[in-house]
Amino acid sequence: MSSFAHRPLVIAPSILAADFAKLGDEVRAVDAAGADWIHLDVMDGHFVPNISFGADVIKALRPHSKKFFDTHLMIAPCDPYLEAFAKAGSDRIIVHAEAGPHLHRSLQAIHALGKKAGVSLNPATPVSAIENVIDMIDLVLVMSVNPGFGGQAFIPAAIEKVRAAAALIAGRDIDIEVDGGVTKDTVGAIASAGANAFVAGSAVFKGGTRETYAANIEAIRNAAATARGEIV
Ligand code: DX5
Ligand code: ZN
Repeated sequence: MSSFAHRPLVIAPSILAADFAKLGDEVRAVDAAGADWIHLDVMDGHFVPNISFGADVIKALRPHSKKFFDTHLMIAPCDPYLEAFAKAGSDRIIVHAEAGPHLHRSLQAIHALGKKAGVSLNPATPVSAIENVIDMIDLVLVMSVNPGFGGQAFIPAAIEKVRAAAALIAGRDIDIEVDGGVTKDTVGAIASAGANAFVAGSAVFKGGTRETYAANIEAIRNAAATARGEIV
């Protein structure tokens, strides 16, 4: 096994690309189709130029799956809402380094709520932004698009950034997750650079059936596993 592959490979479908008229069914479908985590994209129309859903929707989805709920907050401020997202059933809460002046305080608050904590970095934010909070996180989320919308093109500079994140993390038990434009064609380079967790929205939900979701997840997983040297 390659040295970068010590963290398990994770496929995290983003329900942003699901049919919002039947979200419970969609979560059940990607759960059955092989999702490792369910990625929940929360947008406020302020930190990012789009509005998605809030804590009540996550609470309503919680009984539909036992999978790990990976909540990605694209909201500012985030601190007043952390408790609601914790109580809604998030397993991890990811906040953006750019969302406020007190990242350390936000991470303390997430821990006090008994949840795992992650930090997300916009494309223009260097990995050094997590340097002084590295012992407070179990995941860094490298954005490979500007957050706000699904279906955008992968920004190739994210590959070098994943490499820098892997160097900074240096063997700690911290997942490196990549989010935005992840497909079976882009995932290999990101996995080779050291990422182990892959968010995919449109690439998972295209096709609209449980069978296509399973095939889409499998294709992304195989491409990542091949890059990690786990299958030939
Ligand atoms: C973007 C979100 C992503 C998005 C990914 O702001 O954070 O999770 O849903 O969608 P795709 O995979 O379609 O780029
Ligand atoms: Zn996301």
